[in-house]
Amino acid sequence: MQQQDNDLLTAVRAGTPMGELMRRYWHPVAAVTELDERPLKPVRLMGEDLVLYKDLSGNYGLLDRYCAHRNADLSNGMVEANGVRCSYHGWAYEGGGRCVAKPFEDIVQMPGAPTRGHTRLKAYKVQAKGGMLWTYMGPEPTPLVPDWEPLSWNNGFVQIVFAEVPCNWLQCQENSIDPVHFEWQHFNFSVRAEGKVGPYVPRHLKLSFKEFDYGYTYGRVSENSSEDDELWQVGRVCLWPNALFTSNHFEWRVPIDDENTLSVTWSFARVPRDREPYVQERIPYWYGPLKDQATGRWIDTHVMNQDFMAWVGQGRITDRTREQLGRSDQGIVAIRRRFLADLEAIKEGRDPKGLIRDPEQNVRVPLPIIGRRHYIEGLSREQMAADPWLALQVSPDSFIFQAGQPEHVVAEYEAAMGLTMNRQGFVKRPGE
Ligand code: FES
Ligand SMILES: [Fe+2]
Repeated sequence: MQQQDNDLLTAVRAGTPMGELMRRYWHPVAAVTELDERPLKPVRLMGEDLVLYKDLSGNYGLLDRYCAHRNADLSNGMVEANGVRCSYHGWAYEGGGRCVAKPFEDIVQMPGAPTRGHTRLKAYKVQAKGGMLWTYMGPEPTPLVPDWEPLSWNNGFVQIVFAEVPCNWLQCQENSIDPVHFEWQHFNFSVRAEGKVGPYVPRHLKLSFKEFDYGYTYGRVSENSSEDDELWQVGRVCLWPNALFTSNHFEWRVPIDDENTLSVTWSFARVPRDREPYVQERIPYWYGPLKDQATGRWIDTHVMNQDFMAWVGQGRITDRTREQLGRSDQGIVAIRRRFLADLEAIKEGRDPKGLIRDPEQNVRVPLPIIGRRHYIEGLSREQMAADPWLALQVSPDSFIFQAGQPEHVVAEYEAAMGLTMNRQGFVKRPGE
């Protein structure tokens, strides 16, 4: 890759081509329950400092982080019936960003100063879906928040897990179409982490990459699987433009700025039939650490932590001019080309890939899902334990994906699933 293409694909600030492309999609940025606990949250998205809020009427919004008066931080402010008020001198902003009160200026207006109606902050739309808050920072017309089918599955325990990853979003997303890394970064690495030097897991023999409306799928045949397997027939999903989807698990890589990414995981565990009907009243969320506080070393015991370690190790913005790509990288090449083609589409006034604008199309939008029927219809605990994909959910090691799950979430999971969990940190294979 030429340096100029690397710069083009990785820069996400407002006004950059990829920044404009990424602004044409909705991005999950927080959990609904997070705002229930505290109604103001500072967020940084694509290089913009913003404040996410839930006002006293229950409206969500996203405003410029800094007050138009003298730049006080609105995340230290107060929510009002409609919008946010700065705590410093009381200027208030409604959801659309318009200033609706300048308490002292409203009494004594300085000659020539802008009236409150002329003062505006930038404001973006926010919607809740799947227990997450999503924002859209792009131009009109606004597309729909995708209603991916699993987001409305029943009888499941959902948790939303975040991490701030100090590297560019694209190298995180390239991991969404990188089947071979499972063999090494997760399976074989975990063999070594257990202190063994082998045997290593079955090798990948054959890969396929296919484009569909909402992304790409990758299929694999390994030494222990065949073309009859759903891993080949259905595959896993590189979801457009910045997520991985593996049946019951989404991972979005949301750009914080050019050098930092918010990892947002939505994880669904189907309860066994003996726990039905299960209705989750509150979807918990948590933030996981990347490094061990005591040693300063990478946490490498959990699946996503192994990924984070790999991505950050590639550099803040990885230098793609020195890459030597191989056959396993065909999917990565395809998504890079698609992004470059979509930059052209935007220039020509067309939509980039995968936007949904038709409400009729946006109803439980189906995705390729390995084991789909089991997530919907459910299985007995014994059947789940015998299923290669669902066994983990009824195992005491259930949350192998990210380190740092808080005790209250472990306890809620136990209550939902009828399990007693292993509370130790562990190295386990990810079941992928
Ligand atoms: S800085 Fe916000 S009201 Fe003065
Ligand atoms: Fe991974």
